[in-house]
Amino acid sequence: MTAQNTSRLQDLAVEVLKENDRGTYTVPTKGLYPFQWNWDSCFTALGQAHFDEDRAWTEIETLFAHQWPDGMVPHIVFHVHDEGYFPGADVWQTGRPTPTSGITQPAVAGFALRQLFERSKDRDAAERRARTLLPKAEKWSAWFYANRDPKGQGLVAILHPWEAGRDNSIDWDEAFERVPTEGIAPYTRRDTQHADPAHRPTKAQYDRYLWLVEHFRGLGWDNSKLHDASPFQIVDPGFNAILIRGCQDLAVVAEALGETELATRNRARANKGLAALEQLWSDTHGQYLCLDRVTGTLVDSASIGGLIPVFAAIPPERAKAIGAVIQRQAERLKYIVASHDPADERFDAKRYWRGPVWLVCNYLIVDGLQAAGETAVAEMITRSSLELIEQSGFAEYYDPTTGEACGGGRFTWTAAMVLEFLASRGRG
Ligand code: DGY
Repeated sequence: MTAQNTSRLQDLAVEVLKENDRGTYTVPTKGLYPFQWNWDSCFTALGQAHFDEDRAWTEIETLFAHQWPDGMVPHIVFHVHDEGYFPGADVWQTGRPTPTSGITQPAVAGFALRQLFERSKDRDAAERRARTLLPKAEKWSAWFYANRDPKGQGLVAILHPWEAGRDNSIDWDEAFERVPTEGIAPYTRRDTQHADPAHRPTKAQYDRYLWLVEHFRGLGWDNSKLHDASPFQIVDPGFNAILIRGCQDLAVVAEALGETELATRNRARANKGLAALEQLWSDTHGQYLCLDRVTGTLVDSASIGGLIPVFAAIPPERAKAIGAVIQRQAERLKYIVASHDPADERFDAKRYWRGPVWLVCNYLIVDGLQAAGETAVAEMITRSSLELIEQSGFAEYYDPTTGEACGGGRFTWTAAMVLEFLASRGRG
């Protein structure tokens, strides 16, 4: 890419980030997602750090200002009232001072905190702000293992597909059969008014999303009860890897700040998680698989959730095998990395998490492959990601067979990841 093109893309990405900035938090995109989303914000901060360090810290601080007393950091903070989104605060009814949802999302905050801390030019501010955020981030990690790993096995379960962020992944199809739909309140979806319904989850899936929300609401959002009461308990390898990496990164920041006990606790969590993750490896697929904790079986579904673990310090032979899976994908697809194995007949190139490419996942995978020395595949993914942007702009996700933009437009985390990819290119 020429220097001129790089600078043009950087300017466009900054424009998207500023356009979606609401002062102390950033919306993922106008219309479709009008509030603050948890993992979106953490990726957003990485992008903001390239042009406004102070603003980047604020993004994470706002998220943690809405942490629950038990330690959970919710997946949505409803800073404003907006009828354009469903299900809104009136459905969740979590009773928080600023309304929030009642579930969580991938714990990208530990990674983001370390990145901001290490990259900040204002060292005094970085130390001060990291020192304040560190115990909050650790409280969230502790919350995960206490509430989502009640038997202390080292891996946490998600209780709702929205927690993984991969809402309609093929990974959940079988387990979703167990989630009833009887008795849910009538509702009108809003997402399909902002995005092409063919790119979004189906009505049958929405019914189940809503049943779970109503079920957990009926339990008063008491996290000590939710896990065992949920018919949907999935151990997602990607979700766990992000949490594990977050614990490792928190430990690094803690050490730099002299918080040795906090560092030791987080290293212990990460090491236990890494050892347990091995149970999810599939030789047949050359990647990790989800575990259905209710049935105790691995889910035969090769999704991107099983490639993301390269983001944590998995054994080198696993990282190599994951690189090989992605190389095989590149032989049959125009763009990588697909969110589901394109050789699987259930693959759907345009429908949200059943096939499309998502830049945030590419970013996590590239980071991990680079650390594992798999630089050729990492470079292939970076190139493909930037080509997608040049072809189709800053979309929510992309059809890997054509590069067509899907979902919402002018998407914050996509813009943030472009700044990250361009910067790493510059450094490399
Ligand atoms: C949605 O509403 O589509 C979100 O993914 C839920 O977080």
